[in-house]
Amino acid sequence: AAAEKDGYPSFMEKEIHDQPAAVGDTLLGRLDENGSLTLDEIKIDEAVLRSIDKIVVIACGTAAYAGQVARYAIEHWCRIPTEVELAHEFRYRDPIVNEKTLVVAVSQSGETMDTLMAVRHAQEQGAKVVAICNTNGSTIPREADAVLYTHAGPEIAVASTKAFLAQITAAYLLGLYLAQLRGNKYKDEIASLLTELEAMPAKIQRVLDEVEPQVKELASGMKDAGSVLFLGRHVGFPVAMEGALKLKEIAYIHAEGFAAGELKHGPIALIDQGQPVIVIVPSPNGRDSLHAKVVSNIQEIRARGAETIVIAEEGDEAVREFANHVLHVPAAPTLLQPLLATVPLQIFACELAGAKGYDVDQPRNLAKSVTVE
Ligand code: G6P
Repeated sequence: AAAEKDGYPSFMEKEIHDQPAAVGDTLLGRLDENGSLTLDEIKIDEAVLRSIDKIVVIACGTAAYAGQVARYAIEHWCRIPTEVELAHEFRYRDPIVNEKTLVVAVSQSGETMDTLMAVRHAQEQGAKVVAICNTNGSTIPREADAVLYTHAGPEIAVASTKAFLAQITAAYLLGLYLAQLRGNKYKDEIASLLTELEAMPAKIQRVLDEVEPQVKELASGMKDAGSVLFLGRHVGFPVAMEGALKLKEIAYIHAEGFAAGELKHGPIALIDQGQPVIVIVPSPNGRDSLHAKVVSNIQEIRARGAETIVIAEEGDEAVREFANHVLHVPAAPTLLQPLLATVPLQIFACELAGAKGYDVDQPRNLAKSVTVE
């Protein structure tokens, strides 16, 4: 078993380090030199794909957070209304789904019962289903109309890491593919995003090389934290929720991820002296001045005593003034930032759980794949 861990103390640590390859392998063979995408696997009639007027992403757990990232990207690139829903909620609310709906089911294992049931329900209403899945030949891809496999390799640790990054990558590919298929309005943007995507594995590797030691040091001093809050905005919001989920799952620490804009509507009441808050800061080069808004959130919580740990883009010095700790990740287009910003959060949870003496690969009460409803 030690050999299978490549010398890492846990599968989770190994899988965190597998991420440059997980993303790289998921991109492999799907991009061509002239800046377009080939997804032979999407065996759904192109006319049908062109007629889609709504996309619904269904998943559970970490895969559902990948789905939330997917929504920002797909809606922006394809201009198709896109929803994300937990599979177990979707099915029981009598959702409006028909022949013009594309359902995207995201599942590492391909065996999650709630997600499978939601897939069947959607198909009964006439929807086409594309699965984004990491396990060859598993049930969800077998029942789906098409499958886009993530090539993360087997994921052993219960808490999902590399599958998450690979799911986000596959969702980007699907979004860009649909955008390409539905018109060439975004041709240049798509070509440049594909180039940016190809650069991501090396950037993830840089996070591992450069940021991991800082995160480990930070985490080792935080073993006694009773609660950790995470704030993010736009795609940083699902990243914040995923960071909180990792901490709950393996370190058994109360954690919550909030949308930074929601702070003043409630969560700010939780801030008192020493409360650790991890903030994912949007790129200063992004649209809509979200950066300035999140920096002002950091200022607000810091003034109320929060211990602020900030994940920001390289070169972003504006955050320094209000941050107790700054972790810099390489620059990337806003929509791609989750592939980088998530990594320090995974390392943080893994390190904290280890420092508390827990088995990070086999957390209490959890299963890798939940095959009951
Ligand atoms: C369980 C696992 C999670 C996973 C979720 C969905 O809760 O512990 O890590 O995110 O199931 O699993 P799936 O295989 O459908 O992605």
